[in-house]
Amino acid sequence: MFVKAEKSEPVKKKTKSLCYFVTEKLDLPIGFPKLEEKLTNSVKKAVLETRAKLGSISIIHTLGIIPADRIIVVGLGPRHKITHESLRSAAGKLSKKISEMGLEEYSLVIPNNFPINSKTAINAIVEGARLSLYSFDRYKKDRKTKFPSLTIISSDVNASKIVSKAITISDAVLFTRNLANLPPNECSPLQLAGITKSLSANKKLKVTVLSKSELRQKGFGGISAVGQGSKNEPKLILLEYNGKKQSKTTILVGKAVTFDTGGISLKPADKMDEMKFDKCGGCTVIGIMKAVSELNLPINLVGIVPSVENMPGGESYRPGDIIKLYGGKTAEILNTDAEGRLILFDALAYGIKTYKPKEVLDFATLTGACIVALGANVAGLVSNNKKIVERINKSSQNTGEQVWQLPIDDDYMDMIKSDYADIRNTGPGRVAGTITAAAFLANAVGNTPWAHFDIAGTAWVQTGTKEKSYNPKGATGYGVRLILDYLSNP
Ligand code: BES
Ligand code: MN
Ligand code: ZN
Repeated sequence: MFVKAEKSEPVKKKTKSLCYFVTEKLDLPIGFPKLEEKLTNSVKKAVLETRAKLGSISIIHTLGIIPADRIIVVGLGPRHKITHESLRSAAGKLSKKISEMGLEEYSLVIPNNFPINSKTAINAIVEGARLSLYSFDRYKKDRKTKFPSLTIISSDVNASKIVSKAITISDAVLFTRNLANLPPNECSPLQLAGITKSLSANKKLKVTVLSKSELRQKGFGGISAVGQGSKNEPKLILLEYNGKKQSKTTILVGKAVTFDTGGISLKPADKMDEMKFDKCGGCTVIGIMKAVSELNLPINLVGIVPSVENMPGGESYRPGDIIKLYGGKTAEILNTDAEGRLILFDALAYGIKTYKPKEVLDFATLTGACIVALGANVAGLVSNNKKIVERINKSSQNTGEQVWQLPIDDDYMDMIKSDYADIRNTGPGRVAGTITAAAFLANAVGNTPWAHFDIAGTAWVQTGTKEKSYNPKGATGYGVRLILDYLSNP
């Protein structure tokens, strides 16, 4: 969907629809100009009828009184409650409405006296408008191919720059959704690696892929064990971006299990199809790397995406197996469905040893327990570093991508000690499932500043997901906006 910014006089603009926002208790939209009385009264009536409820939309035909065909008024609720989140949501509703009506373009006015600063407002509006019109329809005969284009009318001198950055960010979210929504028969670890390699065409990203035999030979015991049950061989995808000479790197690690059956500890049939989304952490990392390279951020960043298919079969790893993880620690397997932590351990340990990073962030649809604890709208956050958590909370405020920190200490670390190996891949019973999974990862991380995001609930729209106009069915691309904000504000 195309978006541009323009500094023009709204009433003189020839457009299919001239859109304004309104807040509660106003009788006319914010920044509404003086017009012929007939039309003004009509707009007043429409505002009165909707009472400016958040997301309400009313359409007033202008009967040729001004060049625009219609005026559309979008409600934002009470003025003191307006946030970038309500703007994102309202802009999403508006662009869905415009698209349903079959209009090919619309213009939206951000007046000078708008209650939120125009940078934040324009960014949220572009995100809401573009992310809401997404649908994963590439496997359908009837595909939507036409999208309305949006003109943002603002006097902010930086409006075009803000729009262009918001387009890059929302493109990365859409890219992540497209990858994550791929069905498992079309997205093996090999196929995921292939798509990722095509990103290196822009020259600023270097993509390397380690094969099954290289992984075995270099000691990636976790990835090798989980991957051995599938004829789709495991891969480790590495993405490197250098935007600043002689500075320490940040590492992003993402779980990409292209399908999680549970392996020998087989999952029940109900909703097993949703386990195609078990690659979402990896897809988020790949999307972030794409945007960072397009935005030319002045940082060094490495993405590490371990990718496997977790299948039962004659060659699968088993409960009872003891395997050697990257770096030498041994793990006793108690449940082959706790596979994510095994592949993440290898990736984290390899990344820290190879790049000596200043910080590591990992993303994974790691535990059902996280959904039990926090629901489907908030990601679990486990970290060994206060400063990272503070910055993440700020970025979460900025982007509306929610997180909640869970504790970790030696008592939790003790819960995954094994009788026969260094550690085991499940805790005792079902208690603190999200934290014991993180404790397993903490064994790979040591003292390196680290944050772990359990995105089991937030990575796709599922039972318990709050409806948001800009998060349509399927993968959400959760984490891309959050981490791009984090990396842009060091
Ligand atoms: N990918 C799943 C976690 C998951 C389940 C995410 C449902 C989203 C929705 C993960 O590999 C898994 O199976 N975890 C197990 C761990 C358990 C065996 C210790 C779980 O959560 O049940
Ligand atoms: Mn699993
Ligand atoms: Zn899994």
